[in-house]
Amino acid sequence: MASSKPLFLFLINISFLLILSSAEDATFSFDFEVSYITASPLGVPQQVIAINDKFPGPTINVTTNNNVIVNVRNKLDENLLIHWSGIQQRRSSWQDGVLGTNCPIPPKWNWTYQFQVKDQIGSFFYFPSLNFQRAAGGFGGFIINNRPVISLPFDTPQDDIVVFIGDWYTRNHTALRKALDDGKDLGMPDGVLINGKGPYRYNDTLVPDDIDFEQIDVQPGKTYRLRVHNVGVSTSLNFRIQNHNLLLAETEGSYTVQQNYTSLDIHVGQSYSFLVTMDQNASSDYYIVASARMVNESRWKRVTGVGILHYTNSKGKARGPLPPGPDDQFDKTYSMNQARSIRWNVSASGARPNPQGSFRYGSINVTEIYVLKNKAPVKIDGKRRATLSGISYKNPATPIRLADQFKLKGVYKLDFPSNPLTGPPRVEASVINGSYRGFMEIILQNNDTKMHTYHLNGYAFFVVGMDFGDWSENSRGTYNKWDGIARTTAQVYPGAWTAILVSLDNVGVWNLRTENLDSWYLGQETYIRVVNPEPSNKTEFPIPDNALFCGALQHLQQPQTISSAASINGYGLKLLFTWVMFVCTIFHIFQ
Ligand SMILES: *[C@@H]1O[C@H](CO)[C@@H](O)[C@H](O)[C@H]1NC(C)=O
Ligand SMILES: *[C@@H]1O[C@H](CO)[C@@H](O)[C@H](O)[C@H]1NC(C)=O
Ligand SMILES: *[C@@H]1O[C@H](CO)[C@@H](O)[C@H](O)[C@H]1NC(C)=O
Ligand SMILES: *[C@@H]1O[C@H](CO)[C@@H](O)[C@H](O)[C@H]1NC(C)=O
Ligand SMILES: *[C@@H]1O[C@H](CO)[C@@H](O)[C@H](O)[C@H]1NC(C)=O
Ligand SMILES: *[C@@H]1O[C@H](CO)[C@@H](O)[C@H](O)[C@H]1NC(C)=O
Ligand SMILES: *[C@@H]1O[C@H](CO)[C@@H](O)[C@H](O)[C@H]1NC(C)=O
Ligand SMILES: *[C@@H]1O[C@H](CO)[C@@H](O)[C@H](O)[C@H]1NC(C)=O
Ligand SMILES: *[C@@H]1O[C@H](CO)[C@@H](O)[C@H](O)[C@H]1NC(C)=O
Ligand SMILES: *[C@@H]1O[C@H](CO)[C@@H](O)[C@H](O)[C@H]1NC(C)=O
Ligand SMILES: *[C@@H]1O[C@H](CO)[C@@H](O)[C@H](O)[C@H]1NC(C)=O
Ligand SMILES: *[C@@H]1O[C@H](CO)[C@@H](O)[C@H](O)[C@H]1NC(C)=O
Repeated sequence: MASSKPLFLFLINISFLLILSSAEDATFSFDFEVSYITASPLGVPQQVIAINDKFPGPTINVTTNNNVIVNVRNKLDENLLIHWSGIQQRRSSWQDGVLGTNCPIPPKWNWTYQFQVKDQIGSFFYFPSLNFQRAAGGFGGFIINNRPVISLPFDTPQDDIVVFIGDWYTRNHTALRKALDDGKDLGMPDGVLINGKGPYRYNDTLVPDDIDFEQIDVQPGKTYRLRVHNVGVSTSLNFRIQNHNLLLAETEGSYTVQQNYTSLDIHVGQSYSFLVTMDQNASSDYYIVASARMVNESRWKRVTGVGILHYTNSKGKARGPLPPGPDDQFDKTYSMNQARSIRWNVSASGARPNPQGSFRYGSINVTEIYVLKNKAPVKIDGKRRATLSGISYKNPATPIRLADQFKLKGVYKLDFPSNPLTGPPRVEASVINGSYRGFMEIILQNNDTKMHTYHLNGYAFFVVGMDFGDWSENSRGTYNKWDGIARTTAQVYPGAWTAILVSLDNVGVWNLRTENLDSWYLGQETYIRVVNPEPSNKTEFPIPDNALFCGALQHLQQPQTISSAASINGYGLKLLFTWVMFVCTIFHIFQ
């Protein structure tokens, strides 16, 4: 039998190649070692999460339909999952990296994600989805470029620059978690970071000496694409570059109608591409600013991110006051009007050759309606919790998707209400029953006094309306049925609503959550479960070979060894069999 082993392995390799070649697309592999490092972005040494010793982590830069393999090694002292925010994981919520679909990767273990970035373009990011870890870093860019056959709706920029902005605490993520567990508010952040770095010293009183700041080097006259992501905890940020226009071109996978903004509000979890032309005279460097929005400016002054835009022919340092942002602490109308001005370019092509607007969402009949209402945190059984429609979500020990796979009963309830509960709030694993191929209207009603952003995994949705006050049936009259932007993360102003439409064509279990990390941690999330009544691997991939098991399925989990041998399941065996048959047939033919 000794000689059969190499042959066996050879066959496995061949079947692996067949799997890849059948997908017709190139594969890119990455190794992510996730560990703690010490960094002092605001001058105070603290524990930060790095990927391959980098904070922020490396950028994944691929093209539509590429296959992506990421082997994630967990060198933290706690469970880990990496979520690929905005990546639709078509047919494969198995790869989504949230607790509803995946068991966590325990410390010292690794887990290999494998997925195709099917029919997508745009600017996204990844981040650790558990335990408030994003507040400590672990994020990085995820770019999906157009295939060469589809031209960009603008001239190819000189370069691509990824910019992460986000509020930041000098307390580590375990300390922040403890505060929330103790029922406390996190309070004002200690600063805003730009690409993991503290502010440029634009003011000696406000910014201490010796802080490393972000500098972006550019050539005069050229146009750059800045992909800006708000990866913070809870603060909406106004982004601007002194003396420069931001030509908005894309958001979260959709090309927008191109418009110039002097500044744009970027809410937590949102991503935008701006085309910035270096058309100034370089008499000095220019400030890049990310400042808190709709807050008391004088109290929040020290919570401002400041970087530097440096022309190669710059004649000196940036000096003087920062360019002002919008000043409307008590008036959110300006910000909402700006949000409404972001439109879909219906004639531009994205991932497919046909124009984006050829999907006429405005003429599709809605099949189900959910009004989701969030409120300020409440006490449930003595614990501070955040709710959506009166339900505070608690992750079951067994991921929902796994429970379904193994037909386990009682893990979760498929009873999320289509209208907010009026009774006392409760803690539950209550999930939305989405109909496969249905067209869902979701109204997000923000009854909190804070800004929220909501994100749906697995899909891009159409933002068709937003306004202050309570949503009513009449509000539908104001919907944009033509060029509402398709995106993955929508803001909902305090005391206001945002309406989104989503075509439920992606089978799986998909997280719907607030991006506000503290509310998320306290339970403001749910899932939409979309099941094809006639299960088929044409609509959903089979469970991956390397799936981890936990909760009620813990007994299925093998201990992880250092060099785990290639495992082969039914699917692999079948392919192997097919291949052997194929070889036999060929032999037969040539005999
Ligand atoms: C862990 O990494 C090893 C070596 O790269 C790989 O062979 C194995 O499949 C990975 N384990 C999982 C569960 O992905
Ligand atoms: C991504 O790759 C493209 C070419 O494939 C390149 O033009 C672009 O600069 C890269 N972006 C980043 C951020 O590395
Ligand atoms: C995290 O913060 C807590 C509270 O300040 C502190 O006790 C702990 O040592 C910190 N952990 C690390 C690894 O820095
Ligand atoms: C620096 O900030 C302080 C506090 O806001 C302010 O009083 C002072 O005028 C600023 N200094 C300069 C040079 O702008
Ligand atoms: C945007 O502003 C730039 C100058 O910074 C200008 O050249 C360009 O024409 C403007 N584009 C639009 C669509 O307004
Ligand atoms: C360069 O531009 C700045 C800002 O627009 C202006 O104040 C300055 O006078 C200009 N300098 C020259 C040499 O044109
Ligand atoms: C803003 O905060 C400052 C400092 O705490 C306070 O003096 C001022 O009254 C506040 N302004 C408003 C409009 O709330
Ligand atoms: C829309 O996209 C087309 C490419 O199809 C582009 O030529 C046009 O400039 C874009 N329009 C706007 C307003 O951005
Ligand atoms: C939408 O519903 C209307 C009225 O119920 C019906 O006449 C129409 O055919 C439907 N449209 C589609 C695209 O199904
Ligand atoms: C979920 O919705 C489907 C229709 O899409 C329906 O057949 C099924 O009974 C629903 N399940 C529950 C538990 O309500
Ligand atoms: C919350 O809802 C109540 C009842 O509808 C309403 O009176 C109140 O104004 C709302 N508050 C906010 C901030 O939306
Ligand atoms: C794919 O689906 C077919 C028909 O439902 C089934 O026979 C086959 O086993 C499935 N393949 C995998 C890998 O699950």
